[in-house]
Amino acid sequence: MLTEKAVSNIFKYTLSFDDLLLVPKYSDIESRKEVDLTTALGAKSYSLPIVSSPMDTVTEDSMALAMANAGGLGVIHRYNTIREQAEIVKRMHSAGREEREISVAIGVSGDFLERALVATSEGAGVICVDIAHGHHSLMERALKTLKDKLPPEVTLIAGNIAMPDGYIELSRWGADGVRVGIGGGSICSTRLQTGHGVPTLQSVMACHIARGLNRDVNVTPAAIIADGGIRTNGDIVKSLAAGADFAMLGSLLAGTSESPGTVFHDAGEKKYKVYRGMASPEAQEDWRGFASSLEGVSTTIPYKGSVELILRDMTSSLKSGLSYSGARNLSELRSKCEFVIQTSAGQSESGTHIMRSK
Ligand code: XMP
Repeated sequence: MLTEKAVSNIFKYTLSFDDLLLVPKYSDIESRKEVDLTTALGAKSYSLPIVSSPMDTVTEDSMALAMANAGGLGVIHRYNTIREQAEIVKRMHSAGREEREISVAIGVSGDFLERALVATSEGAGVICVDIAHGHHSLMERALKTLKDKLPPEVTLIAGNIAMPDGYIELSRWGADGVRVGIGGGSICSTRLQTGHGVPTLQSVMACHIARGLNRDVNVTPAAIIADGGIRTNGDIVKSLAAGADFAMLGSLLAGTSESPGTVFHDAGEKKYKVYRGMASPEAQEDWRGFASSLEGVSTTIPYKGSVELILRDMTSSLKSGLSYSGARNLSELRSKCEFVIQTSAGQSESGTHIMRSK
């Protein structure tokens, strides 16, 4: 039945990264060194608000180590055996990483609890409950089980969700961090296949507002992790200004030396690597032997070299981004920032648009 709420929703419209710009503000920041990007996930703090996505063409040990070196976090994907995942955790632990820097993904059914118990016993301090539609009864059951069975110091990330009610509920069920964004990823086809999704930036803003409005003493609002559709460092700054504590990245980190997979050459000697959605037919065939419910694509992207340099550039762009808003840290960014909506003419001016001579 069509409810009043459904009818009022018809008149809502949503805003994406390209629809908005941050207005430059007065700044007395004289050097990027004065800008601090420190952020928190539960009781743990990180100096870079960036998380690499738990995808089999993004995060295994090399990427997770590079993320930890840069001050962020890499979430090791779950499309492997429990033993293979635990071996990666062990290698990170012997490489001297702290538990808060070692994170693995699990699902919500099957071996999820065993995977979490093995990974935490080998030294993982952050468990990411990784499913496509996270505002779900199976997520509630999984989070409550994990809260009950894992040591209390283990941090839980859960997702993905698109709406503030999902964000608040996952927080109530025990998540310390929630991945916010449905269908916006560069390799996603969820919106095409199912008609569902919300632009990521809008979801982040809505969840951040819900966090501010929360008066439920049984809810400790989780860290917001903007996830899906982030294509530029500027999009990361917009996410952080909109209320995200972290940005989770797939395509921006894929195609690097540290992402899993081999580099191959085309006839013209250009180098490429594969980047694929975990619900693409190719990924599903590999991890479970058959493909159904196709909600992602597989593609090749130009090889980018070391992720270290990408993370270094990203760090200085983020600091520069904060200083344009006159902000020395993320909380100042949120209180000082001001968004404006840009027209399509503004969008084309915002991109690099040098005229080419004919
Ligand atoms: P970006 O835009 O950073 O997005 O490349 C990465 C995020 O996309 C999500 N993801 C998927 N979403 N089908 C989807 O609808 C898929 O096959 C798929 N694989 C990954 C995920 O949230 C990731 O962090």
